[in-house]
Amino acid sequence: MNNWEQGFQHKYILTSEELADLCGTTENGIKENLNQSESLCIRGGKTGIYPSVVKKFLKKNGIDYSCQVLAIVNMRGGIGKTTASISTATRAKQYGFKTCIIDMDPQGSTTLAFDMTPEADEPIFYDIWQKPDEMVMGTIKKIDEDLYIIPSSLENGLLDASLINPSHQKNAVNDVCNVLKANGFEMIIIDNPPSLGTAVISSVCAADTIVVPMFSDAFSFRGLDITINEIHSICSTFNMDEPKVRILFSKYDRREKASETALLELKERYSKYFIPFLIRTSTEFSKALQKKETIFASRRKSTAKEDYDMYVKHILGLDKIYKQNGGKCD
Ligand SMILES: Nc1ncnc2c1ncn2[C@@H]1O[C@H](COP(=O)(O)OP(=O)(O)OP(=O)(O)O)[C@@H](O)[C@H]1O
Ligand SMILES: [Mg+2]
Repeated sequence: MNNWEQGFQHKYILTSEELADLCGTTENGIKENLNQSESLCIRGGKTGIYPSVVKKFLKKNGIDYSCQVLAIVNMRGGIGKTTASISTATRAKQYGFKTCIIDMDPQGSTTLAFDMTPEADEPIFYDIWQKPDEMVMGTIKKIDEDLYIIPSSLENGLLDASLINPSHQKNAVNDVCNVLKANGFEMIIIDNPPSLGTAVISSVCAADTIVVPMFSDAFSFRGLDITINEIHSICSTFNMDEPKVRILFSKYDRREKASETALLELKERYSKYFIPFLIRTSTEFSKALQKKETIFASRRKSTAKEDYDMYVKHILGLDKIYKQNGGKCD
């Protein structure tokens, strides 16, 4: 198999330039530390580094690869949850995290984004939560090397009728995550529907970190307030410690007054949760979706990639080494 063919198995791959930037060295510095088999030629004449090799580099720098469960939640619709799920997952995979997305939304937008719509006889979360040990590993579908999805379809809309018992609500997503963890997954990302249903309750109970994306439009704060209150109330109902909650401000445009006003209000009211990296408005997100991929499949530089990368570094704890090595992080 030649390099090009191998490259196809890794649609999402970090370039030596990106790894050098993160580690505070030059591309040659990275290449000198590699065997020939650890890198490959990718589109645009660039050198791609296999995720397992990126992981080796980052582990040496003290990065923790123990599994994190990240739930993406906002009760409001069309606010960037799916964009956050798919972008975070593909970038985490590039940084060497074995990643699985659980699509809990009956709309199945994340599933569609990766062209992973299940056949009628293929299981989804609704079919597997009662028998995770038997079913999870047979249900996950491969998007790319070390990047998988538990797809969704309309039947997940029936979850509210089947997850009635509170202990089932508490454990359903967690039990599925435990099987994934036992099978070596290091990052689990859960995309949720824009509703107050059992999918969200169960995801909140399983999460180490909850990311709440939001835009600056007039109704966003209402959605944000409801979401934060709901997270508090779920944790108190189940008598659980609260997971980390992080607000991701997206579709930011500094030329727009609404963006600046929302940013000020966010920093004032939610400073504890606010992620200090903003995602600017960009057409790259919808362009990538049209190709059934995310912004991180492209090798070209873009503000969308730059912004999402800073936030993912922050979530994965990579911002520490980036700063140590002279990168600007805030
Ligand atoms: N930073 C951004 N700049 C421009 N458009 C964006 C940005 N982030 C997200 N979008 C666009 O906003 C729209 C809604 O995003 P997305 O589908 O991620 O929201 P959602 O919260 O998952 O929606 P739903 O609640 O219906 O599941 C999409 O068309 C997406 O491409
Ligand atoms: Mg969505």
